[in-house]
Amino acid sequence: MDKIIVTSALPYANGPLHIGHIAGAYLPADIYVRFQKLLGADIIFVSGTDEHGAPISIKAESEGITPKEIVDRYHKNISESFKGLEIDFDNFSGTARPEHHEISQRFFLNLLKRGFVSKKEGKQWYDPKHNRFLADRYVEGICPFCGSPGARGDQCDSCGKLIDSLNLIEPRSKISGEIPILKETAHWYLELPKFTDELKNWLSTKKNWKDNVINFIMGWLKDGLKERAITRDIDWGVPVPLKEAEGKVLYVWFDAPIGYISSTIEWAKKIGDPERWKKYWLDPKTRLIHFLGKDNIPFHTIIWPAMLMEQELDYVLPDDVPANEYLNLEGQKMSTSRNWTVWVEDFLKNFSGEYLRYYLAANAPESKDSDFYWKEFQNQINNDLANVLGNLANRVFLFAKKYFDGRIDKESDFSDQTAEIIQRIGNDIIPITEAYQTYQVRKAIGLIIDIARFGNKYFDETKPWVTVKTDVIKAKETLYNCMNLLRIISITLFPVIPGSMRRLRKMMNLNVEFSLKDISVTEDYFQIGETEPLFSKVEDNLIENEIVKLKSASIDQSGLEHKAEISYDDFSKMEFRVVKILKADKIPKSGKLLKLTVDLGGEIRTVVAGIAKSYSPESMIGKQVAMLINLQPRNVMGIESQAMILAAHHGESLSVLVPDNEVPAGSEIS
Ligand code: MF3
Ligand code: ZN
Repeated sequence: MDKIIVTSALPYANGPLHIGHIAGAYLPADIYVRFQKLLGADIIFVSGTDEHGAPISIKAESEGITPKEIVDRYHKNISESFKGLEIDFDNFSGTARPEHHEISQRFFLNLLKRGFVSKKEGKQWYDPKHNRFLADRYVEGICPFCGSPGARGDQCDSCGKLIDSLNLIEPRSKISGEIPILKETAHWYLELPKFTDELKNWLSTKKNWKDNVINFIMGWLKDGLKERAITRDIDWGVPVPLKEAEGKVLYVWFDAPIGYISSTIEWAKKIGDPERWKKYWLDPKTRLIHFLGKDNIPFHTIIWPAMLMEQELDYVLPDDVPANEYLNLEGQKMSTSRNWTVWVEDFLKNFSGEYLRYYLAANAPESKDSDFYWKEFQNQINNDLANVLGNLANRVFLFAKKYFDGRIDKESDFSDQTAEIIQRIGNDIIPITEAYQTYQVRKAIGLIIDIARFGNKYFDETKPWVTVKTDVIKAKETLYNCMNLLRIISITLFPVIPGSMRRLRKMMNLNVEFSLKDISVTEDYFQIGETEPLFSKVEDNLIENEIVKLKSASIDQSGLEHKAEISYDDFSKMEFRVVKILKADKIPKSGKLLKLTVDLGGEIRTVVAGIAKSYSPESMIGKQVAMLINLQPRNVMGIESQAMILAAHHGESLSVLVPDNEVPAGSEIS
């Protein structure tokens, strides 16, 4: 039997998961894997956290902790969210682990040895204030392709194009906000142009890839492949294994996909068969399938295959890259900086993970962007799951228990209708199977819920509550057929909501180990055991809370609420002064707070300021800032704070207010 490796893009270990991640890369993969397991496939499902890259070191710097602490925190947090959603990897690793470093270095050296990586001196942005080179992510500016502001040095989120940071218009250092200068440095480049023909030949065999993926790649190839730097000047990452490259690390996008292999190696060790990973990765017949969101397409269809092509081992190349489009939220693009999102960990506090699985799968952004609407979520769960499927199970089980002690035998004198129903359902199985196999889960779900809808209609039309008094066999026939439909649904819908379908099978005394083949089994009888409602309704108040929470958490430029008017008197009670910061210290165990010692023009005060996410202690020393100095002192983490710093808020970042020109410490502000 051919083997399958399924991967989900490694999530960055610098924040929790939100529903967009789940809809794009994780749920579709988990559903596919569960379906293939039902088919009896020899399949492994691997991923792990992506633990390198500049954003992680930026975050660590701003919190005053190590990158390792950041990635450990989020590896745990992310793993818990996956657990709550029954996203069930065979192995979930992390790229900061030594084995991953080792194999990534080998990948680099192999490409170097074979002449596909070369060293080049070149210019790079440099922050003169902080005396350091700026990796691409540390520079922002205007996109040279589409003119959007806020493009990062490596990629523009608006048009999706990869950018050479040197082409950014009006670049700024993200660390200091200053205009960076260009300075000479050496980097190692992956010679992508050398792969052009091999990649084109290989890609031309991919006739069945999704249109959205093919279109993306064609756009890329048309522009011509360019060599790309695969080393960076930061100190967190996989060290470049060359003496002359001290202090440089591999670019996060070089080492991250290798994580698919290192995760498989870790898995093989865990199951006590350390060589087993090779049976998957080195067998040319293995189907390697990468699930991801569309921003990851170029890396998986061009750069990663090129990396795999020139290694000392013959790795399989991706067989398919079923990328998904984006999930929007309430009609707007999701944005974590504006908090316009739904975090998985928050969702799981109020709702079943299965409900999220169902709604996201039924509205997956398979071929175009789709939307998460809280109201629609409620309606879809209450209709499809509670009113249609749950209702069918409830009424059938209750009826069978009331009149037949829960046992319904298949009688020989059932009418032709039974054969017709079995035939009709049999006809549905093929398109359902095909839909799963071609990543069209929305379609599969639609067909399956139609079976439940049909069941309810059939129950209504055959009126067992009447026939049970006039023609018991007829009543039993209705129940038998409905139970058979439920049995088939418990198998076909299992990949989408495994927990509920397992519960359904338990209530029906059906085995919890089963395969797709079991669909065509004919049960001689059904015996209903202990039952409970399969689904509960999502109540209005929960949904209203979520909508309020979403709207108030999101910081909308115009959406800030105004406060009540105050008198001039009220205003004149407040004493604002310019102070000079003499000393700034981190407060242990607090990521947000700095302890400032400030000069008020002779008088020295201590102030606790919640600015550590935006300012390092060093950057504050010597600064003049605006403060409110007659606010009642407050005790913050054991320190008496004797004034309050003024700062502008923008999303999560803060900008302290400073006078336009240097003024004596203690100057009054009014
Ligand atoms: N961490 C990346 C992201 O979230 C995805 C990495 S996928 C891999 O966009 F191929 F690099 F593993
Ligand atoms: Zn752009």
